[in-house]
Amino acid sequence: MESQNAQRRLGNIYGHLTTEETSQCPASNSNKCPAMNPGKCPASNSDKCPAINSGKCPVMFTSQAKMWPRLTQGEPIRVCVTGAAGNIAYSLIFMIASGHMFGPKQRVALHLLDIPPMEKVLKGVEMEILDCAFPLVSGVICTSEPKVAFMNVDVAILVGAFPRQKGMERKDLLKKNAEIFKAQGKAMNDYASRNVKVLVVGNPANTNCLIAMNCAPDLPKSNFSALTRLDHNRAKAQIAQNLKVPLDTVHNVVIWGNHSATQYPDISYGYVGNHPHIRTPIRSAVNNDQWLQNEFIATVQQRGAEIIKARNSSSAASAAWAVVNHMRDWLLGTPEGEIVSMAVCSDGSYDIPAGLIFSFPVTCRNGEWTMVKGLKVTEFSRKKLDLTTQELQEEKQDAFSFLGI
Ligand SMILES: NC(=O)c1ccc[n+]([C@@H]2O[C@H](COP(=O)([O-])OP(=O)(O)OC[C@H]3O[C@@H](n4cnc5c(N)ncnc54)[C@H](O)[C@@H]3O)[C@@H](O)[C@H]2O)c1
Repeated sequence: MESQNAQRRLGNIYGHLTTEETSQCPASNSNKCPAMNPGKCPASNSDKCPAINSGKCPVMFTSQAKMWPRLTQGEPIRVCVTGAAGNIAYSLIFMIASGHMFGPKQRVALHLLDIPPMEKVLKGVEMEILDCAFPLVSGVICTSEPKVAFMNVDVAILVGAFPRQKGMERKDLLKKNAEIFKAQGKAMNDYASRNVKVLVVGNPANTNCLIAMNCAPDLPKSNFSALTRLDHNRAKAQIAQNLKVPLDTVHNVVIWGNHSATQYPDISYGYVGNHPHIRTPIRSAVNNDQWLQNEFIATVQQRGAEIIKARNSSSAASAAWAVVNHMRDWLLGTPEGEIVSMAVCSDGSYDIPAGLIFSFPVTCRNGEWTMVKGLKVTEFSRKKLDLTTQELQEEKQDAFSFLGI
């Protein structure tokens, strides 16, 4: 009984393994499951464990070759975090270092970038990392040189950005950030791993990502993404709270568009319930279209601003956790049937102009995301999509004109 509980707990932590799936595992029935005896799974060597082979085993990260080859070579993953002396990074770095992003067996080398005036603060962060004695951290590099920060990195999380200051026009903010993300895109193009996975967090995230992607022509466009997972998580949480159900029973909400107040949190394809035969569409479960089309959308759109009002500082821990969710799902895969939101390069689907960095519904497997296509777009949704598209096109125009692209 205790071992079953342990297994369920691990399933919950990693969110990829349901009780039904663990019962397929031959090791779990003979009390030899790695969930109970970490590092001792007999199936992992014989390649016979269905949970491992389908990428659903919560602990055996030795099977990650099938998911993303770089993860299995016994070397640390090199992860660059920019804005490393800032608020989000102060949560994020410690989540990465403790194994939440790449799993409890994967070593990491941290490349931390911030600007020269933050050198002393960054030194303090480095001292704290050391003091945690993290077994997974194989090295820390602190620098203000993009070349050093991006050298050979497998994952680049671009958190650092120029903050909006009092009286600053939106265009001025775009211009400042266009310069930063142009330089960082070029540096990744020249020095990062050819398969570096890039996640842009710093705002305006979609357009900053667009700039970095366009300034890194030698890297695959599909390796660039911007963070809308925080919005996705916020949408799920609002639905769970409204229905008074556990969060892990809410599935397949979608964030479309820009990480801004024009984003469109959409529940049209979402459902509630974990049993394959007992699923209720979110719309019927909530049974209040008025709330869904107004308060729900506005709450998710304005959540960032509400948190700033309450904390006098922008969301940091929840943003860091969303970064972990985003990268983990991208590299290790989304659970079967689960849709997540990622801002990625549009291929023209859903009539979104090709080349824009736009938040879409995606699934992930083998270290690649795949857009979920063919979802029905209602008239209500179309209007929302058009609004956020228009904003992104304007941002793109401004940013590209600064850069002379
Ligand atoms: N996409 C999202 O969901 C989301 C959510 C929350 C916050 N954000 C954005 O993330 C960014 C960071 O937020 P924060 O709270 O950590 O801010 P912060 O001001 O605490 O930290 C930002 C850090 O970036 C550094 N920085 C500035 N320019 C840099 C450069 N050229 N290279 C490297 N580092 C540089 C700063 O020195 C600072 O240490 C902001 O732009 C914020 O708006 C995005």
